[in-house]
Amino acid sequence: MKKLTLSMIAAVLTSTFTMAHADTLRMECPSTPGGKEYCKYVKNRFEAAHPGNTLQFIDLPPASDEKLALLQQLFASNDENAVDLFQSDTVWIGLLDKHTLDLTDHVADIKKDFFPGAWQNDMVNGRVKAVPSYLDAGALYYRKDLLEKYNEKPPATWEDLTRIATRIQKAERDAGHSNFWGLIFQGKSYEGLTCNALEWIDSHNGGSFIDSDGKVTINNPQAAKALDMAAAWIGKIAPPGVLGYKEEESRAVFQNGDALFMRNWPYAYVLSQGDDSALKGKVGVMSLPKGEGGKSVSALGGWQWSINAATKHPETAIALLRMVSDTESQKMAQKLLGYSPTRVALYDDKEVLGRAPYLAEFKQIFADAAPRPATQTKGQYARVSNAIYNATFDVLRGRTDGKKAVAALQQRLNRIKGKQWH
Ligand code: GLC
Repeated sequence: MKKLTLSMIAAVLTSTFTMAHADTLRMECPSTPGGKEYCKYVKNRFEAAHPGNTLQFIDLPPASDEKLALLQQLFASNDENAVDLFQSDTVWIGLLDKHTLDLTDHVADIKKDFFPGAWQNDMVNGRVKAVPSYLDAGALYYRKDLLEKYNEKPPATWEDLTRIATRIQKAERDAGHSNFWGLIFQGKSYEGLTCNALEWIDSHNGGSFIDSDGKVTINNPQAAKALDMAAAWIGKIAPPGVLGYKEEESRAVFQNGDALFMRNWPYAYVLSQGDDSALKGKVGVMSLPKGEGGKSVSALGGWQWSINAATKHPETAIALLRMVSDTESQKMAQKLLGYSPTRVALYDDKEVLGRAPYLAEFKQIFADAAPRPATQTKGQYARVSNAIYNATFDVLRGRTDGKKAVAALQQRLNRIKGKQWH
């Protein structure tokens, strides 16, 4: 038998080590408070479970559309080291199809644990392309203490909201709180404004821009009315600065105690109840108000764990994806980041409900939430949403009115569509 030399043994050991145990993976780290701590938790757990591997983190822009643009650049540059595991917005699954790893054969056993609608959202042509990380639906936050002080109830309609906000804003300012505002939302020209606009418009029975068959429906009087309603808030009950707010800017103003109502996603609740929050115990959260003659509509949002199709370490990346998708990680993400779980059983979990009692009610709100027109517009959703938020922004800043804006948007969307969505 051939004698094994020390260098031969070393070579075998090194190659085994390289193949199975020495991967460096890059994962996106959330930019909201709690993100660093959450990532530390993932790193410790992952590296302990898979000794020899290293987990590194990258930051991506907080705004959905900016993040999409950056990821598309990274994918176009074919840099397989850029990122292995990242979160895709609900509306990107079709758009990013060719850049994300097919997970179908690696996650079949966990499918039963997730909300079926969220799981379905992450499938393209029958293949699983992502695993739901957390659910989002637009919600109305209110100051319980102030509504009580002024003997008002949480608003059932936008009309109620406008009246109550006007009254309490005036009273609070008269009492010396000079930078107090009635309502805060996401008015910047970006993806979040598309979500806000969908809620205003659909709650007035104005539809969701494009119907499920792909027909553009935005040019209607209810849609125009809804946009005019929101424009009339600017400078009256909503600060002019709202035209530059994304989610975190909105939360900062509300959490500082400078607003009565806020439209935001559920994550803001857990953060507003942290020990460092001035609003601990003072915040209520509920479904959004109804439009005139309409209904309450929450935009459907949420994020999905996806793997870069160009990853050099598919097996290790899948192990990491399965770890961040398990019950323990979802509970940690709910605790540190306020993420609403995608695992059904966690909606009966005492610890989770203790931190976010509203989740019992939100289970239904998530199920009923209105999707943005992403599926039917296929690869063109990013352009569609860009047209929607630009048009909405122009109404908010008084460049045009609802009627003209919806007529122009109808034409613009039809031009983007061409013969058919593709
Ligand atoms: C939230 C939602 C996401 C949406 C974004 C808009 O992150 O989960 O779906 O696109 O807000 O700002």
